[in-house]
Formats: sequence, structure tokens, C-alpha cells
Amino acid sequence: MPLSAIHQFSSNHDFLEFASKEILATISDTLSRYETCRIGLSGGSTPKGLYKRLSELHIPWNQVTLIITDERNVTFTDEASNYGMIRDVLLSSIKIPKENILYFDTALGYDSAVLAMEQKLLQLKHERKPSEPLFDLLILGAGPDGHIAGIFPDTDTELQKGFLTAKTSTDVFEVRERMTCTMKALTSCQQALLFLKGHEKAHLLHALEKGDTSMPVGKFIHEAQAEVLFLE
Ligand code: 6PG
Repeated sequence: MPLSAIHQFSSNHDFLEFASKEILATISDTLSRYETCRIGLSGGSTPKGLYKRLSELHIPWNQVTLIITDERNVTFTDEASNYGMIRDVLLSSIKIPKENILYFDTALGYDSAVLAMEQKLLQLKHERKPSEPLFDLLILGAGPDGHIAGIFPDTDTELQKGFLTAKTSTDVFEVRERMTCTMKALTSCQQALLFLKGHEKAHLLHALEKGDTSMPVGKFIHEAQAEVLFLE
């Protein structure tokens, strides 16, 4: 992990301003090459403030596809729902065509939600050349155990090799049943911003600086072009 790819901030304002500038630049650069910019959004509390900030920026949302990278097996009205959080802080405040939002539709049922999302992502993949990334930009958080999206330290990623989505589970966090983009899907990204916030995540920063790939976050950083933004 080249040190230059790690940015540390002591204020939320600076954290959000830096991230917003990066995202606007990526959207502009992507739209100079493609008709749409594909942005992956993970859940959790860290990126929530950024998503709120994005809703205030002048972004050509009709040229953006938002892909929610992982979900808990709950209804969208459940406070644990990633879609529900992103709907409340971002989607409800912007004019974006409904067809530009891809997410695990838990209303279909656990297995069907994953299968339907697999089809949607395969369709996206086929709209570009095989060598081109699925995501133009990926916005990720990481849990204290080093999980990213719905990929946990004990997730058997070998089983998921050929897929873009998978069912996973965790015994560490409240909602056990998860659905997620696989590491294969997540690492198919042109650029990624990994947000780490708070002293309880400092150990992850140190692990990344050492090149530790024992946790999903380290495996991801090892394979993808990513910048780490750490807010103390
Ligand atoms: C999830 C999230 C998850 C999140 C990390 C960080 O569904 O749990 O998508 O991958 O990004 O857990 O969450 P915090 O930002 O709340 O620490």
C-alpha cells in the first residue's frame, strides 16, 4: 500500500471536502470516456455523512449508476437496511432515474435478491468490454474486524470465485444474514475510496500500511487501486 495513497484528517469537514473533490473529479473523468459513471456505495455509518454531502453537490445524476454493494437480509424499513440508509440520506434528495439504482431487493426473498442482483451486475459487465472494470468508483467502509461490504474474515471467498454476488453471514454483528458483491466484483473497480473513521479503526490503517492481507480489507487494498481516507 503506497503511503501516498493514505490521507489522514483531523476534521470531518476536511475529510468530506477531500472526498467530495475526489468523487467529482472521478465522475467528470469517467464521463469523458463513458456515457455513465458507475459508483458503488457500501453501507455502514462512516460513508453516511459523505452520501449526505453528495446529495448537496451538482452531479449529473442522470449519467450516474449507483450500485449498493451489500445488504443485510432485512426489509428496507428496518433501521439496519443499507438501502434504507442510502435512500434516506441521498436518494430521497436527488433526481436520479430509478433504473440507475441497483441494489439487493430483499423484498424478493434472500436467494432471489442475490440472483436478481447477479443478473443486474452481469448485464452491466456486458455493456462494456470484458477488460473494463465493473465500477468506475467504489466507496467502501471497513468494519473493526476488517470486513468490507458483506465479506467477513471467515467468508469462504473461494466458493464465490465465479460470481459477482453472494450470500454471506456473520456471527459478530447484529444482523447475521448478508448479501454482497464478491471480492471479484469489488476489485473490478477503476478507483476505490476506503473510509476509516475513529480510533477503533486505527489498527486497520496500521495493518494496511504493513501490507497485511489477512483481513478482507487488506486483500481488497492489495488487489485494487484504492485511496484510504482516515479520519481520527
Ligand atoms: C455493512 C456495511 C459494511 C460497512 C462496515 C463499516 O453492511 O455492514 O456495508 O461493510 O462498510 O461495517 O461500517 P461503519 O462505517 O459503520 O463502521
